[in-house]
Amino acid sequence: MHISIIGCGYLGAVHAVCMAKLGHDVVGIDTDSWKIGELQAGRVPFFEPGLPELLDEVLATGRLKFSPNMADAKGAQVHFLCVGTPQRKGAYAADMRHVDGAFTALLGSLEPGNVVVGKSTVPVGTAARLAELLADHHPDSVVAWNPEFLREGFAVKDTLSPDRFVYGVPDGEPGARATAALDEIYSTPLSLGTRRLVADYATAELVKAAANSFLATKISFINAMAEVCEVTGADVTVLADAIGLDERIGRKFLNAGIGFGGGCLPKDIRAFMARAGELGADQALTFLREVDDINVRRRMRAVELTRGLLGGSLLGRRITVLGAAFKPDSDDVRDSPALNIAAQLQLQGAAVTVTDPRAIDGARHRFPELAYERDLDEAMSDADALLLLTEWDEYRAITPERSAQLVRTRNILDGRNVLDGSTWRAAGWSYKGIGTP
Ligand code: UGA
Repeated sequence: MHISIIGCGYLGAVHAVCMAKLGHDVVGIDTDSWKIGELQAGRVPFFEPGLPELLDEVLATGRLKFSPNMADAKGAQVHFLCVGTPQRKGAYAADMRHVDGAFTALLGSLEPGNVVVGKSTVPVGTAARLAELLADHHPDSVVAWNPEFLREGFAVKDTLSPDRFVYGVPDGEPGARATAALDEIYSTPLSLGTRRLVADYATAELVKAAANSFLATKISFINAMAEVCEVTGADVTVLADAIGLDERIGRKFLNAGIGFGGGCLPKDIRAFMARAGELGADQALTFLREVDDINVRRRMRAVELTRGLLGGSLLGRRITVLGAAFKPDSDDVRDSPALNIAAQLQLQGAAVTVTDPRAIDGARHRFPELAYERDLDEAMSDADALLLLTEWDEYRAITPERSAQLVRTRNILDGRNVLDGSTWRAAGWSYKGIGTP
């Protein structure tokens, strides 16, 4: 298949490379010519394990090209919309400027029979709205919605062999044509057993919003349990293991800590609430406000626990934050709980040094007032408290003995409950986990 990918950020760049890997002829298009230059030169402009190697491999086949010109989408049979839908400034709703702009620009490059496939996370109703627009200009083309479920850090695997495909298509012949095109594109993973569900537009759009809402709710649920554990002396990690053994519940996404962040879960649940409000169904999603509140509370709690570890005052204390990315194996610092906590501590008078294997440049750009140190030992030197806030493997591996030689005072907050508290305490540290005694 000849495919164009509009938008080459996290989603689009991964999709472009993976579609070329599946054997298709792909052109990736983005208005950011720097990004296009990097990708053309075989450099991935963000950190995603496995992607640079795969980019090299598919560039060498000649099946993947990049361009800053929408005109180069001409000739493709299927066009994937992969642009971002960030939170609108000062509102909960999604900012649809990139989707609308990309779609309008694409209209000029469409040819009869083309299929336009939305992958961006959008408010329910978007696909139908774009389909109406398309019908005015190209009645013989069709819109489909095929939400993306990839996780950063596992993006290549999640794209090449996802849990499921969801196609939102219109009724009748146009829907069958869009389904056939997507089946052809994904023929390899489909032949290997990936399930695919065909639905109407609204259902497909809602699947994505519902999936991320469920994940966010699961995390906030266990963090709410952590709050209760903290006042009862119970241990949320054991509680999670125990309830997680019930197959109906499952252990995944039940890690209590400083909560969820990133470019997806926080803004997606807010956009979902905003859209439900517009549709008169806001009551159905009021629980998501609580999910959001519990999540934000975790960050404040981490600040208070740090203050407690330091004897009640942050003023002038040297704090080392291990991790800036919103999760390990990513350099993404969008709405990162770790950075948020680091900034709050700094504002309250502490001298904060942040270290991270991948995310320092992005973090410095967002919070230039914090100090950054790439070398882990250097970062820990003379600290009054260590805060493990992003569970990179190298931070899980730190030992109380080695760290004790570097720090000024043996205080550690384990914001992701990944260290063995008893080992640290036995080595003379004041160790604090989240929701653990
Ligand atoms: C999330 C979803 O998991 C993907 O399925 C979805 O496609 C993606 O959003 C998206 O909408 O594009 P991602 O943002 O990459 O993926 O990250 P997650 O692995 O979901 O983690 C989100 C946050 O939750 C991280 O800050 C992580 O540290 C936190 N988390 C995760 C917890 O605090 N506890 C857990 O048990 C799991």
